[in-house]
Amino acid sequence: MTFSQRHFLGIEGLSRDELLFVLNTAESFREISEREVKKVPTLRGKTIINLFYESSTRTRSSFEIAAKRLSADAINISASTSSVNKGETLMDTARNLCAMRPAALVLRHPASGAPHLLARLNQCPVINAGDGTHEHPTQALLDVMTIREHLGDIHGKTVAIVGDILHSRVARSNILALTTLGAQVRLIGPPTLLPPEFSRWGAERHTDLRAGLAGVDAIMMLRLQRERQTRNFFPSLDEYARRFCLTVEALREAKPNVIILHPGPMNRGVEIDSRVADGPYSVILEQVTNGVAVRMAVLYLLTTQERLATRDQSVANGQAVGQEGSDVQAEPSVWDEHTLPKRAVGQ
Ligand code: NCD
Repeated sequence: MTFSQRHFLGIEGLSRDELLFVLNTAESFREISEREVKKVPTLRGKTIINLFYESSTRTRSSFEIAAKRLSADAINISASTSSVNKGETLMDTARNLCAMRPAALVLRHPASGAPHLLARLNQCPVINAGDGTHEHPTQALLDVMTIREHLGDIHGKTVAIVGDILHSRVARSNILALTTLGAQVRLIGPPTLLPPEFSRWGAERHTDLRAGLAGVDAIMMLRLQRERQTRNFFPSLDEYARRFCLTVEALREAKPNVIILHPGPMNRGVEIDSRVADGPYSVILEQVTNGVAVRMAVLYLLTTQERLATRDQSVANGQAVGQEGSDVQAEPSVWDEHTLPKRAVGQ
């Protein structure tokens, strides 16, 4: 299978096979980060631009590290130090950056749909690193990868997503990914933060934390996205914490081998108790580790597909790969067994 998407804008629209393909590719990349020399030449000579219009610690450094581990040159631009300050529009910034011929543009933006707009310029692959309250597809993939690693096949598992569902792009992308892969999703939070329309994706709604956690396999806690809340959705932070903070006591409702996820940044004592965040069921830092592998996979799939398609075509035409006259020959092989993980990408 090849990954036929030119851009990576969301989980919406991706098939089960496409999701599994990206996840399997990410799993095959994970081993590179365990090596002493954490670098393969796969994207040598390519440039990845990270364009971030919102604060970010994990996502931005994860994309940067992923690009560098694949030997690409990574450039970081944040809105506060770019010409946005001088009144330039997003489209003009993007046109100028694309004119420098990057292999991909990674965009985080407070407006839902911003990466889709850039994708319409169609000058280079665009990767959505979080757009407003819409989607955060690489976060959902790293979450699913972490759940698979601990619990095996996603099909038939029950995953609770707790907190500010209304403003969470992480929740949206995860609901789509998890339900596409056959999981049951329970959304838990105050009624004001639980959009009813999410039921159309087959997600159950719960306003009682303990009832919602009964028998779940995995729990994903979300931060209150206060920067996006336009009004008071609950009486006070104290009241919210009393009803929805994940404590050791609340955790007892879940399955005995439950795992706890959080995309970060955490607000300890608000949505999650420190004893849970740092406890034995927490896989929060493993999520961060898997994030690099997921982003390596997405960068790799988006920036090498043309070459792979050419390669597939030449194989189909009976030409040996690397044979004289083949346009693949000039490129370093991405299948170098000394540099790539043992399991061939895409298997
Ligand atoms: C999330 C985001 O930015 O949407 N964080 C992340 O990417 N690691 C969630 C959040 O900010 O709460």
